[in-house]
Amino acid sequence: MYSTTVAAFVVAYFVPCLAFTPKECHDSIGPLALRFLSTKRPYTYQTSNPEIPIPQTCTPVKFWYFGRHGTRYPGDDDILAMMDTLTPLHTEISNSINNSLLCEHTRMYLLSWRLGSDVNLLNESHLHEQGKGELQAIGARYKSRYPDLFTDQFSNDTHYFRATDAERTVSSLKAFASSAFSNTSSFWFPNPIKNDPILKFYSVCEKWKEQVDNNGSSRVELKKFLVSSFMNDTITRVSLRLGLARNLTVEEITIMYTNCAFETAWMNGTLAPWCVAFGVEDFQVLAYTEDLEYYHVDGYGSPVNWESACVVLQDAANFLGEYEANPRNPGRNVQAYFSHSGATLKFLARLGLFNGTEINADNFDNVKDSYVWRTSDIDCMGSNIAFVLLQCEDENDLKLGVLFQEQLVNVFDLQGPYVDYHQFKNKIQPILNTCDFQQICDVDA
Ligand SMILES: *[C@@H]1O[C@H](CO)[C@@H](O)[C@H](O)[C@H]1NC(C)=O
Ligand SMILES: *[C@@H]1O[C@H](CO)[C@@H](O)[C@H](O)[C@H]1NC(C)=O
Ligand SMILES: *[C@@H]1O[C@H](CO)[C@@H](O)[C@H](O)[C@H]1NC(C)=O
Ligand SMILES: *[C@@H]1O[C@H](CO)[C@@H](O)[C@H](O)[C@H]1NC(C)=O
Ligand SMILES: *[C@@H]1O[C@H](CO)[C@@H](O)[C@H](O)[C@H]1NC(C)=O
Ligand SMILES: *[C@@H]1O[C@H](CO)[C@@H](O)[C@H](O)[C@H]1NC(C)=O
Ligand SMILES: *[C@@H]1O[C@H](CO)[C@@H](O)[C@H](O)[C@H]1NC(C)=O
Ligand SMILES: *[C@@H]1O[C@H](CO)[C@@H](O)[C@H](O)[C@H]1NC(C)=O
Ligand SMILES: *[C@@H]1O[C@H](CO)[C@@H](O)[C@H](O)[C@H]1NC(C)=O
Repeated sequence: MYSTTVAAFVVAYFVPCLAFTPKECHDSIGPLALRFLSTKRPYTYQTSNPEIPIPQTCTPVKFWYFGRHGTRYPGDDDILAMMDTLTPLHTEISNSINNSLLCEHTRMYLLSWRLGSDVNLLNESHLHEQGKGELQAIGARYKSRYPDLFTDQFSNDTHYFRATDAERTVSSLKAFASSAFSNTSSFWFPNPIKNDPILKFYSVCEKWKEQVDNNGSSRVELKKFLVSSFMNDTITRVSLRLGLARNLTVEEITIMYTNCAFETAWMNGTLAPWCVAFGVEDFQVLAYTEDLEYYHVDGYGSPVNWESACVVLQDAANFLGEYEANPRNPGRNVQAYFSHSGATLKFLARLGLFNGTEINADNFDNVKDSYVWRTSDIDCMGSNIAFVLLQCEDENDLKLGVLFQEQLVNVFDLQGPYVDYHQFKNKIQPILNTCDFQQICDVDA
């Protein structure tokens, strides 16, 4: 107690005079930052404990998987901003670095930053080596959990893999398959099509495109938040910390954050140089900007987001239903889809997951510690949802496991870990009954 008081006294009275050798220098927040990297967070789940226990009397009979691609390169806008905005900003900061409040090693780490030569427009949005590793690891873990479903050899009769028409999803599919089967000599998957009705249902949903994605109103909260006092305070804090004699712009701090997130992902979770500029409060604010956008464009913010995702649930229900319909000829063992954030998030909302408090620009302070629609947790790279159907005592005793990020989760108020398949069917029946995609997506309806 005494020493704390003295320390506080020393800091309060002497630090201003010793500003050139700050005792309370700013250090990186360390691995905690992973919780705030939003949609660029690498897939670091379930690497230490891959077990998903199955009741002794049950056997897995069918497995359905829907996932986002793994860690990728930035899109062209972000790559250009890294070249045209971040690189000159780095020079500017280097010139005034002696005014910064960063600790010595942290300062050196930031100074050491250079944009990698692989971050070029040719690699735009392509799967990164890290992402390939993520999907290989997911595939290997699922094979080890359900060896009888994946089997050593791929076969058209028992397996079906499909990706959207993007390099990053096709490469993700191949990476998953390369470790899910010992022998891929007969591996086959359909040529990806543009606007796949299941994997990219939103791209053919006119109502979503017109009323949500291309509607300025959907990003009103985001825009408001970007000029809020929360954002301005973050900008002031970070600018001062870096030793700049001016305030960073929103564009500058955004690309700093984006680069921090991507490069951390590329280093499998080791914090990248730009991340050292931020404290926990700053990360919270920056992650909230992305959460606000995705909440409205892909989450609970607009009904058409989850309503249109019923087609994905329909696909899963059809696949799982084949077992009940004919246990002796139950169709394929495995169906695996490789898609995007825009589909996985809407599907999460269709399953009613992470449905908490509404988030908007004004309530940041009230919800920042409690809101659940956090893209850092629910929309990381390689994010995935799966269903595993188990046959237990007899052919009618079917149980279902719903997996998110390779962990069993509860949906529709059914208590798991595994739920009675017939109860699950009853819960989703109303959703399937009203799953008229044309009507849901009709702009005039
Ligand atoms: C990446 O990090 C995870 C832990 O988060 C670890 O299990 C995995 O082996 C690492 N991958 C590589 C390629 O180092
Ligand atoms: C910062 O201070 C160090 C040590 O005093 C000095 O060597 C360096 O040139 C200074 N950097 C700048 C950009 O002024
Ligand atoms: C990225 O760019 C480099 C250099 O242009 C190239 O060698 C590499 O193959 C590219 N990587 C991907 C994943 O496209
Ligand atoms: C892989 O399977 C093919 C048949 O599809 C077979 O000809 C080949 O020998 C197998 N390779 C290995 C290494 O077992
Ligand atoms: C798998 O199915 C596709 C499409 O029908 C076909 O082109 C391919 O030859 C099949 N592969 C094998 C090993 O039968
Ligand atoms: C845009 O969204 C707002 C708020 O949800 C809505 O009132 C408006 O009708 C939408 N505009 C269009 C063109 O759909
Ligand atoms: C935040 O800063 C911007 C740009 O300087 C300004 O337009 C805006 O009014 C500020 N917001 C608040 C709440 O002070
Ligand atoms: C940065 O902006 C804040 C208001 O958001 C203002 O109080 C401060 O003076 C500005 N700093 C500089 C260096 O312009
Ligand atoms: C989200 O939660 C609210 C409140 O519990 C509920 O009324 C609503 O139906 C839920 N939305 C979805 C899509 O499940």
